[in-house]
Amino acid sequence: MRQSLVIGNWKMHGSAASADALVSELLIGLAKLESVEVGVCPPYPYLPYVAIKASGTALGLGAQNCADQPEGAYTGEVSVAMLADVGCHYVLLGHSERRSIYAETDEAVVAKTAQVLAQSMCPVVCIGETLEQREAGNTLAVVGEQLGAVLAAFSAQELKTMVVAYEPVWAIGTGLTASPEQAQEVHKALREQLTSSDNSLGALRILYGGSVKAANAEELFGQPDIDGGLIGGAALKAEEFLAICAAAAKQ
Ligand code: PGA
Repeated sequence: MRQSLVIGNWKMHGSAASADALVSELLIGLAKLESVEVGVCPPYPYLPYVAIKASGTALGLGAQNCADQPEGAYTGEVSVAMLADVGCHYVLLGHSERRSIYAETDEAVVAKTAQVLAQSMCPVVCIGETLEQREAGNTLAVVGEQLGAVLAAFSAQELKTMVVAYEPVWAIGTGLTASPEQAQEVHKALREQLTSSDNSLGALRILYGGSVKAANAEELFGQPDIDGGLIGGAALKAEEFLAICAAAAKQ
């Protein structure tokens, strides 16, 4: 049995006041939910603050990015050890906004994954195709290559805490969602790739991301190979995010 997981990616949104209000509401709602693991990834400056509020609760904390080096003269970067120090468990890696706006390559994703694994934290490796790549019939090849880069770099034992997030680029922040069938087709192929790399990796969680909302969450999470979601816009509204978590808890 794979435990359902929902992670909220707040991106570069909010303020100390809005983070405070959002976490307060989430903690009340999540106290009533069982059978789902939930995490939030606030912007870096709010991490310690959210960590203090969420300490002793089931709400997990994550970062949206990390450095590819352990420490040193890397102005503007944040190491995974620092993230561990302030209570993070998850680190998002290779989000499509990092790949497209900041030119992050598969190599960079591998280097950052190594840092996360060295701290025994949970790498959430994001992969996904652009609309152009989908229309050219290359979806499975593109995501297969992105996941393959990570699988080739580490042993199955090292990757046992990894979470994969399939996020079609054309569905992120656009209001367009992959249909449950489209998403399931990709998740199934990813599961097969994990299993053929090492049987034990078939048990890893594969999240779907891209315009997930309360209205479509249940149908998406009901697919056999979709184990939860990585949520952007809808993670900023407590009621909406909690409804998505409730949909994952039902699976
Ligand atoms: P979205 O973002 O839910 O706003 O589409 C998802 C993500 O970027 O992780």
